[in-house]
Amino acid sequence: MVAPAIGLDIGSSAVRAVQVTAGRRGPAVLERVGQVLLPRGAVREGEIADPEPVAQAVSTLWSRYAFKGSKVALGVGNQQVVVRKMDLPFMPEDELAQSLEFQVQDSIPIPVDQAILDFNTLENYESAQGERFNRVLVVAAHRQMVDSILGVVRGAKLEPTGLDLDAFAMLRSLVPEGFPGEGGEMLLDIGASVTNMVVHHDGVPHFVRILLMGGDSITSAVVDDLGVEYDEAEDLKAAVGMSEVSGLGREHDAARVITERALRFIDEIQGSLDYYRAQPDAIPVRRMVVCGGGSQLPNLRQRLAETLHMPVEHGHPMQSLKIGNVGLEAEQLVQAEPYLAVAVGLALGGMA
Ligand SMILES: Nc1ncnc2c1ncn2[C@@H]1O[C@H](COP(=O)(O)OP(=O)(O)OP(=O)(O)O)[C@@H](O)[C@H]1O
Ligand SMILES: [Mg+2]
Repeated sequence: MVAPAIGLDIGSSAVRAVQVTAGRRGPAVLERVGQVLLPRGAVREGEIADPEPVAQAVSTLWSRYAFKGSKVALGVGNQQVVVRKMDLPFMPEDELAQSLEFQVQDSIPIPVDQAILDFNTLENYESAQGERFNRVLVVAAHRQMVDSILGVVRGAKLEPTGLDLDAFAMLRSLVPEGFPGEGGEMLLDIGASVTNMVVHHDGVPHFVRILLMGGDSITSAVVDDLGVEYDEAEDLKAAVGMSEVSGLGREHDAARVITERALRFIDEIQGSLDYYRAQPDAIPVRRMVVCGGGSQLPNLRQRLAETLHMPVEHGHPMQSLKIGNVGLEAEQLVQAEPYLAVAVGLALGGMA
């Protein structure tokens, strides 16, 4: 019997976990899904601001949904992580892993003795002068930030077994093996306060950006502008989104504020896409796939497609999974799916 793998996503609005088991021959089987909301402010911009309630929420998640075992794969995505593409002199992967610290110390904004480093090889190539290079995506995370996440998880009596970028986890679940996509795509996980962006080709990441923006800023703008409570602003946001509301009522006002904010968000995405496209070795991006709670904003997908001139689709992080005895109605799973890309990807990564 294969042990299950559990991915734990500590988001700004909630903690959520997904448990999968390797299928005997076919796809991995989804066995458990759970989510517990966090008090506002406990996780800010993807970083743990107040450890106690987060550990509490993780404990509740385990007891409420009966996850099996205590080993968990974790994700990170915040301003304390940098992802850079670099061309390093060619060497075998194991040698590169050993010497990574020295190779990258001058190129990353974190002192290497305070960083946790990882890399993904994109390609090996030879220059016109005949020199060989490894083109890699280097990931560097502040050790202190990682320690604070590990501390919270251990505080909930769990055992972290792996750590991955949220962006890579999203890539794994939205573009699973055997579903390579259609050439260059941009993936977006639009959260409450963080948006993870990945450009990939056939599942290989070429560009990662972590933006500190998400659905929360839209809700806050509604609170400020209309003078309503936060929960009411959330409801208004989910109801009207970027639609046009005629007349002069509260919904009209809300739609105006929401649209204004969301257009700023779309501008940022456009800016990042333009930045990527200006790179000399950029691959053509023909399509966008969105997930995360923020992607549920009514009309956002359509407005993104209009502005960026490309098809924009909702991602399906559970597409490669067989649904086991999860204990949720099919309808509930469909509703939960947009929020689960990172947790599913972490679980799939933990299975490997
Ligand atoms: N139907 C909806 N319409 C508009 N916005 C929505 C809807 N459902 C959820 N959201 C927004 O999605 C955001 C939460 O998304 P998500 O749960 O993916 O974030 P998170 O993972 O907790 O946070 P982060 O990834 O930023 O750390 C909130 O801002 C919430 O208001
Ligand atoms: Mg998230």
